[in-house]
Amino acid sequence: MIICSCTMVSDRDIEQALIEILSQPNAPLPTPGLVYRHMSKTMNCCSCAPLAVTTIYAIVERLEREGRICPCACATAKSHLIRLDQKRAQRRAARAVVVLDAAE
Ligand code: FES
Repeated sequence: MIICSCTMVSDRDIEQALIEILSQPNAPLPTPGLVYRHMSKTMNCCSCAPLAVTTIYAIVERLEREGRICPCACATAKSHLIRLDQKRAQRRAARAVVVLDAAE
């Protein structure tokens, strides 16, 4: 499945990048930016960012279940990704309040 139409990144590309990133000692947080840079891609419009985060989160969970990456790297990555997702939800909620305020 294509995740990013600007750079033609698929979920399989992201999976391969995550395996390589999370297999490193002291694996960094696999943010969409880091994963794209690992694939030598640059986000253009960034409209794929929410889907990229969801995809990264799902793939990290699956790779952990399958024992293909270290559970320690998964735990760290998941906690960071959950926080990113929560921040995104808070920003969406704040924008909705601004829109409602403007409508009144
Ligand atoms: S859809 Fe991914 S950068 Fe535009």
